[in-house]
Amino acid sequence: METVVSGIRPTGNLHLGNYFGAVKSFLQMQEEYNCFFFIADWHSLTTHPHPDNIRNSAKTILSEYLACGLDPEKATIYVQSDVPEVVELYLYLNMNAGIGELMRTASFKDKARQQLHISREGSEGDVEREIFNEGNKHSVSAGLLTYPTLMAADIIIHKALKVPVGKDQEQNMEMARRFARRFNTTYGVEFFPIPASFHLGERSVKVPGLDGSGKMGKSEGNAIYLIDDEKTIKKKVMKAVTDQGPTEPNSEKPAPIQNLFTMMEIVSTKDTYDYFNEKYNNCEIRYGDMKKQLAVDINAFCAPIRERILDIAANTEYMEKVAREGAAKARESAAKTLNEVRQIIGFRPY
Ligand code: TRP
Repeated sequence: METVVSGIRPTGNLHLGNYFGAVKSFLQMQEEYNCFFFIADWHSLTTHPHPDNIRNSAKTILSEYLACGLDPEKATIYVQSDVPEVVELYLYLNMNAGIGELMRTASFKDKARQQLHISREGSEGDVEREIFNEGNKHSVSAGLLTYPTLMAADIIIHKALKVPVGKDQEQNMEMARRFARRFNTTYGVEFFPIPASFHLGERSVKVPGLDGSGKMGKSEGNAIYLIDDEKTIKKKVMKAVTDQGPTEPNSEKPAPIQNLFTMMEIVSTKDTYDYFNEKYNNCEIRYGDMKKQLAVDINAFCAPIRERILDIAANTEYMEKVAREGAAKARESAAKTLNEVRQIIGFRPY
């Protein structure tokens, strides 16, 4: 069975966009592949040197993924910082990673720019110049620079062939492939397989935001969270942007209206969708009614997940057990690779 690895940054609660954009694909993959899904808590240190309550954010994300149906019997689910083997591989990969190539990655430049407070419009070379500026010497960390090396280590430590990630991760994936190849050529071995990206976007449904245009996202501030209760959902949906309604039959839907319909397509039955679609096409649509129905259907979707989140999160013993057993499985796989790596490089196996 092919191995799949994916890391999840613990950035707060899951929303519907996460569910339909990523979690749902994970659920399918755990049936078909040898999956390793982990919470990338070390990676969160690259942008938040003092993350508030790192343990709680890992717990939140773990309970929510479990509630969605990620199954520790089917996939290896673990917390990155429970698997120290990854760090050792990270060290070896860093020995052959160039500062230059790491500095040229777009995500490094973006984040470094933010941390140095340089505007996006700045000229080429701004980031480099500011990094080496004496007064800034602590402000961009070596950890941020080596983010792609750590990600490569996460992936190749399990000899993964496939990595489900969003399009924004393509450059990191390119680096992971490069570091895997480089290890192989440096030591003249065919040891690490070259991991391919598995684009989540193409296989999944894009959930729109309900605030006019664009997609649902945490940073967009338009997210409906799986943990949201009925009242909160209703409030968010009723606030959705609409217009005066169509004046001509069968008009094209403007973006905010299309978004409502797209959302309905995702969570409601076909009959419900058809009903409102017909009303729209006949210029008889009442957005208030449509939104009420949409809120009911979103809540019907979220409610069972929400209940499971609350149950699981309250069951500290179960959460501990999942994390412990996941870590043990992940470490077994990681240690096997690392032992071979040590011997290839010339160190004693453990
Ligand atoms: N960089 C990924 C993101 O921002 C998270 C991540 C860390 C990851 N390690 C990984 C994803 C390994 C896939 C495989 O979303």
